[in-house]
Amino acid sequence: MPTLLHIDSSPLYGRSVSRELTGAFVADWKAAHPDGTVVDRDLNSTSIPPIDGGWIGAVYTPEEARTPEQKDLLTLSESLIAELEQADEYVIGVPMHNFGVPSVLKLWIDQIARAGKTFSYADGAPKGLLTGKKATFVIATGGNYDAQTQMASFNFVEPYLRSVFGFLGVTDATFLTAGGTMALNQGLDRVAFLAPHLQAVHTQAQVAQGGVA
Ligand SMILES: Cc1cc2nc3c(=O)[nH]c(=O)nc-3n(C[C@H](O)[C@H](O)[C@H](O)COP(=O)(O)O)c2cc1C
Repeated sequence: MPTLLHIDSSPLYGRSVSRELTGAFVADWKAAHPDGTVVDRDLNSTSIPPIDGGWIGAVYTPEEARTPEQKDLLTLSESLIAELEQADEYVIGVPMHNFGVPSVLKLWIDQIARAGKTFSYADGAPKGLLTGKKATFVIATGGNYDAQTQMASFNFVEPYLRSVFGFLGVTDATFLTAGGTMALNQGLDRVAFLAPHLQAVHTQAQVAQGGVA
């Protein structure tokens, strides 16, 4: 039975565009996989400390030599990595904050990017260890960062996620972006704004299940 890992990182909950769109993806996925499992990882309600010297020391201590304290320091990291390993697919909601990913998502990435766990340098070259996964990223941005626009080079969200997840082995990644959400604050109708993005999510959910778009 397949497992979908559903991650959200917007602090705006009911007002969040990325959360509404990942929610639509999850609904489609559940309909296509009645026996499947969805694991929800809400990064805004998960307490993730910034990595510090003790954590880094624990990571680079060989597993068999770690003290009980070092093992404790890595408990959260181990369980977040297990969620990634056990899932077949990921859907990840990402609001743009200050041209990059929100801080809670960066804190999570720092916990899950681990040498020997999610990537290796075994043969002197980096090798991602999260292989065979399919990921859909749903990004919401206040402005527009489409290629050829003046602001395109300010978008550090998609290039960063593409790089870091590719590094970890997740190369089957689709990026859907709802750009220009600031218009919602200026009176644009939310239903009308969301319609094409919900359509894109439904299409992607069908494609991801191997259906015809
Ligand atoms: C703290 C914060 C920083 C933001 N920074 C940017 C930004 O740099 N560029 C941008 O286009 N929009 C920015 N926005 C707007 C969000 O990207 C926009 O509201 C988007 O819809 C957020 O996704 P969400 O609706 O899922 O929360 C920012 C919003 C917040 C709350």
